[in-house]
Amino acid sequence: MTKKLIIVTGGLGFIGSNLIELLLKRNYYVVNIDKVSYSSNFYNTKEFKDNKRYKFIKCDINSKKVESIFNKHKPIGIFNLAAETHVDRSIDGPKIFITSNILGVFNILEIFKKYYKKNLRSKLIHISTDEVYGDILTGRSDENYSYRPSSPYAASKASSDHLVSSYVRTYGIPAIITNCSNNYGPKQHPEKLIPKLIHNIISNKKLPIYGKGTNSREWIYVKDHCEALIKIFEKGKIGNFYNIGSNKNKTNLEICKGLINIGKKNIKIGTNVKIEFVKDRPGHDIRYALNSKKIIKELNWKPKKSFSQGMEATFNWYLNNLNYYTSLNTKNATKRVGLKK
Ligand SMILES: NC(=O)c1ccc[n+]([C@@H]2O[C@H](COP(=O)([O-])OP(=O)(O)OC[C@H]3O[C@@H](n4cnc5c(N)ncnc54)[C@H](O)[C@@H]3O)[C@@H](O)[C@H]2O)c1
Repeated sequence: MTKKLIIVTGGLGFIGSNLIELLLKRNYYVVNIDKVSYSSNFYNTKEFKDNKRYKFIKCDINSKKVESIFNKHKPIGIFNLAAETHVDRSIDGPKIFITSNILGVFNILEIFKKYYKKNLRSKLIHISTDEVYGDILTGRSDENYSYRPSSPYAASKASSDHLVSSYVRTYGIPAIITNCSNNYGPKQHPEKLIPKLIHNIISNKKLPIYGKGTNSREWIYVKDHCEALIKIFEKGKIGNFYNIGSNKNKTNLEICKGLINIGKKNIKIGTNVKIEFVKDRPGHDIRYALNSKKIIKELNWKPKKSFSQGMEATFNWYLNNLNYYTSLNTKNATKRVGLKK
């Protein structure tokens, strides 16, 4: 019997490390390939780094080495999460988003195109985002909604989704594309809204909110996303797109006020902890909202964590893991970037 081995790319990051934890619990073997960029963190893999079914290999997804890793480890699944992920950084320096998110995926596709022919049970799961649909001012975007990305980050993800989908159609590769909404939970880099606000609440600092705080996002607990990914790998239809969302939207202001309230229950809040409205992000999308009925109906998946439980668990994880903030690969991790030059 083939060993149930999965390759996760970008597994030192937020979602990748949560996904690996779940895959190991489900008795998969996992090889994590990550280039160890600023957003990676070995803190994220410390609980399972000595697990005999886990292996880490430092490697860029653009490298030729990816081919020998596939051939040596013979994965039955590849979950591609490796990417540049911060919209603000994509405004200051879009080039690396093109290199990792588009050319990196192209390299994986070229290698997988040869690999799957010798390993017919293998599948590629390409992890993408709801941001590819652009602003959704009313209603919710389903899988047939057209792509209208607004930021260089979203455009690079959209481009890679199109590439994967074209390889399914043209070369018949067994791949599936997933579009998930905003994740929150343990192990997220504090350049992102929720861990940044928690950091500032704990360290008695102002809470910066872009614009008027009215931008709305659909928030999903990271473990719910990871469960959906495994379900899609095990039961999803090749060549399909699957939206993954919670159907729960919150404005940034609601998120911030909610976290202040959780903070008040758990710690003594300092006097500097106040909302501060700051200059908005250029091109900031007003709202993303997914219609996730397809995965709910076809794959019998639904998110388990309620928003209030998830936020409480998230706040407490950062509070109990203060070393996480000091173990980051980035200096000034919460510094503002992305204000068009
Ligand atoms: N965070 C979200 O809310 C969200 C929502 C939907 C989809 N996604 C997608 O999920 C994936 C993971 O997101 P995340 O939030 O965990 O990101 P993250 O920034 O926390 O982690 C990304 C990881 O990828 C690695 N990486 C980057 N470029 C690489 C390359 N060229 N080769 C190898 N490794 C590389 C980094 O070192 C890092 O460890 C991304 O593809 C992202 O687009 C994220």
